[in-house]
Amino acid sequence: AVRRRRVVAHHRRTPRAVMNSPIVEIDFTDWQQAHPRPEWTAAVEAGKVLYFPKLGFDLQPAERALLREDMLAAGKRNVSLGADGVLKGAAGSADEQQALAAMIGRFRAQAQGLIDGLLPEYKGQLRMAPTSFRPKQVETRAQSVRADDQRMHVDAFPSRPNYGERILRVFTNLNPHGAPRVWRVGEDFETVARQFLPQAKPYRLWQARLLNALHVTKSLRSEYDHLMLQLHDRMKFDEQYQKNGTQMTMPFPPGSVWVCFSDQATHAVMSGQFMMEQTLYLPPGREVNPQASPLAILTRLVGRPLVGVGAGSAR
Ligand code: SIN
Ligand code: FE
Repeated sequence: AVRRRRVVAHHRRTPRAVMNSPIVEIDFTDWQQAHPRPEWTAAVEAGKVLYFPKLGFDLQPAERALLREDMLAAGKRNVSLGADGVLKGAAGSADEQQALAAMIGRFRAQAQGLIDGLLPEYKGQLRMAPTSFRPKQVETRAQSVRADDQRMHVDAFPSRPNYGERILRVFTNLNPHGAPRVWRVGEDFETVARQFLPQAKPYRLWQARLLNALHVTKSLRSEYDHLMLQLHDRMKFDEQYQKNGTQMTMPFPPGSVWVCFSDQATHAVMSGQFMMEQTLYLPPGREVNPQASPLAILTRLVGRPLVGVGAGSAR
């Protein structure tokens, strides 16, 4: 019976009965007229993915020509548009780059409008990261295990400690050939943290100091940042978990949008090409329910403060 219950779930569309759906569908049709609902805020803060099937990015006919993998400069993972309007990582002619910057800029404004309407509690507190355009085909990308986003993980940054700052992300699929962007989405953060924390290497302040001195990190890695990276790595390296962990497959069709806290929603991207993504950083503790955050959950599970220079960690 145990074997049968472990049948691989990610070939099926339906979630297993044991998992509440990690996807919440919202039928907005207008980016700028989003309106809040407490249950949606609670859902995204619980690590669920908010899915907007009717909220496509309206690609202009001339922009179709920009949907090519070779719009990416050699050796780059994605194209990004900075807050200053500077485009990075793009190839193509000057005209094409200008058109690409305009396209990405339009998405940025729409994503921001969506979040302002949907999550007004965060207004004035979000810090906008560069907007990214990802023209690479996911399924042909060869990567190390640690960098392989086809493996289930939560997002964590190796070089930029964030001390519990939240990573809110807005995604849209703009594939012109009908290809969905296929994700796997797993169990809630606390369940996964309980599974993987026992395998985490302990935090060492001297190591964090060394990494900082060597400029491997841009600031001192906190115990929180260490544990988030450990969860990220332990999840990705666990073949059993990757294959048999509770999860569902979710194909996001072109012309749809989805939003999640990617430091909390366990996810993997299996296939797809041509996506745009906007990251918005929310300072720690500014959630409507800060107790649902990864920082609060890990702090509870570990039983001591995890941020604050050297707090309780002079080992
Ligand atoms: C990721 O954050 O793991 C990548 C998501 C995607 O490329 O769709
Ligand atoms: Fe990720």
